[in-house]
Amino acid sequence: MKLGCCYYPEHWPEAIWADDARRMAEMGLNLVRIGEFAWSRIEPEPGQYHWSWLDRAIDTLHAAGLTVIIGTPTATPPKWLVDRMPDMVAIDEQGRPRGFGSRRHYCFSHEGYRAECRRIVTALAERYGEHPAIAMWQTDNEYGCHDTVLSFSDGAASAFRGWLAARYGSPEALNAAWGNVFWSMEYRRFAEVDPPHLTVTEANPAHWLDYRRFASDQVRSFNREQVDILRRLSPGTPITHNFMGFFTEFDHHDVGRDIDVATWDSYPLGFLEQFWFSAKEKAAYLRQGHPDIAAFHHDLYRGCSNGRWGVMEQQPGPVNWARFNPAPLPGMVALWTLEAAAHGAEMTSYFRWRQAPFAQEQMHAGLLRPDSSEAEAADEVRAAAAVLQEIGPQVCAKAPVALVFSYEAAWVIGIQPQGQSFRYLELVFETYSALRAKGLDVDIVAPSADLSGYRMVLVPTLPIVPEGFAEKLAAFDGPVLLGPRSGSKSPSFCIPEGLAPGALRDLTGVTVTRVESLRDGVAEAGAKETGGFAVTRWREDIASDLAPELADAAGRAVVSYKDGVRYCSVWPDRALLALLVERMAGEAGVELRNLPEGIRVRRTQTHVFAFNYAAEPVFVPHLGATLPPASWHLDPV
Ligand code: GAL
Repeated sequence: MKLGCCYYPEHWPEAIWADDARRMAEMGLNLVRIGEFAWSRIEPEPGQYHWSWLDRAIDTLHAAGLTVIIGTPTATPPKWLVDRMPDMVAIDEQGRPRGFGSRRHYCFSHEGYRAECRRIVTALAERYGEHPAIAMWQTDNEYGCHDTVLSFSDGAASAFRGWLAARYGSPEALNAAWGNVFWSMEYRRFAEVDPPHLTVTEANPAHWLDYRRFASDQVRSFNREQVDILRRLSPGTPITHNFMGFFTEFDHHDVGRDIDVATWDSYPLGFLEQFWFSAKEKAAYLRQGHPDIAAFHHDLYRGCSNGRWGVMEQQPGPVNWARFNPAPLPGMVALWTLEAAAHGAEMTSYFRWRQAPFAQEQMHAGLLRPDSSEAEAADEVRAAAAVLQEIGPQVCAKAPVALVFSYEAAWVIGIQPQGQSFRYLELVFETYSALRAKGLDVDIVAPSADLSGYRMVLVPTLPIVPEGFAEKLAAFDGPVLLGPRSGSKSPSFCIPEGLAPGALRDLTGVTVTRVESLRDGVAEAGAKETGGFAVTRWREDIASDLAPELADAAGRAVVSYKDGVRYCSVWPDRALLALLVERMAGEAGVELRNLPEGIRVRRTQTHVFAFNYAAEPVFVPHLGATLPPASWHLDPV
């Protein structure tokens, strides 16, 4: 795995570039990402390109033995461009234009802005497409960051109408699919359809789902335009985009198919603070991050890639953007780096080389402090580089488990939660965590993935069942788990004919006759003999000829079983997930290991890694050793 950093030569006097480059190489780095926010310096006036500074920056890095990842600068259109076409900014859900003065102030559907992006990307690729220093291209930066996938602009509205016409063919078909007779919402022409915002009460969920699908397709086609130019002008140079953590606003499987290397931006401490983790977990993992946060995304984005993936931005110290921004425990930066290698990453690049003394991110740590002295992470980078050097390239061992992840599922649940604590990402993450706590390696895969070769398959929920999915599960030779709400919606967001789980009814042998959500704090006990789980958040009533495999204390079905396929009709708590993982692994002949709290293991084809995420030393029985906090242990296979 290569190491790198994110560098902004335009932020620093040219006199220090060469020294920066020398110090990067000395620290063990060999990749430098630059340029992704530099539009105002590349083209300060319309049509006047200033390449010389960028030429010199690239040459300086290259002369030090570094290779360069160039970002296209389309996440930060300059002021003159916004002033030339003020309607290029996105319109938020409240109908307000997004202002200039930060970043990502553009609408994916604005044709004029798209043309400007094609122009600047073409100019950049013509300049550097064949440059020997260029190791990779990055398109834009973090599509969707700061809530920017959805825009409610005129451009988006008119593109949406075209998208609907292509999907449905006639307004009658659209009305029928959405159920627009309800509340007299019928349209006579596609031209009458608006985006689903600013309605008096909620808009039709089918309307929202199609708007999300449309918006996701716009991200994909925006990215594709850049990819096509880069492929033409820089043939053979790999293209990446840097995805985000816990982010489902567009279909990353789609975008991932169009690029060569899926990368993501790993900020474990910020994510722990900003997401649903309990106060107890936030305290226990304050300076380490929850032990599954980084790993979950490694496995998710590997599954969004064509095989090549990595970390484009690795947190090196406190960040600036979470509610609270603690410093990592000494050792964590090295641990996170090696964990990426253990999951098969081809690169980890730290954000950023030097902390900026100005502007929005001046409180965000780098590998250097603003005065150029080394920050705490620098020695950890050296330590990680030394270990990587010693162990050589790491290739994942075949994971026994496939965990099915669907962006569309996230949209469906988000549009109609029905109980406010039914959160898609949390459900998938908890399922992942239950597997990882028992020592299993996991591939997080798209519903379209080939499942042969896995020993067990878990589908936390999949409300809309794609064509062929039920047949694929029926043919799968191993235990399968389907979670609550699977098969509960048709492709146009209606209750399926014959009730849920729709296309999965034959496979599971159950019919869902009623659902209820439970407020936070309600926990209804499972049957005594089944290991102490409780029903929280969500419960379904099941009609079936089968006796439930697991029931609650009142005898209501919790898990139904038919020919290797389980349907779980409640929100599964940790005890229930642990029990299900044990049963499935037992049936599949997959060996489990009950790992102590905070310990995770991961296998590559050559090594078995163990990581201690706990803030204290932990004795690990299978190693017969105690791991200090924030440390790792490595054994050859
Ligand atoms: C990422 C972004 C970077 C920087 C970083 C700070 O979301 O891609 O440009 O803002 O966060 O943590």
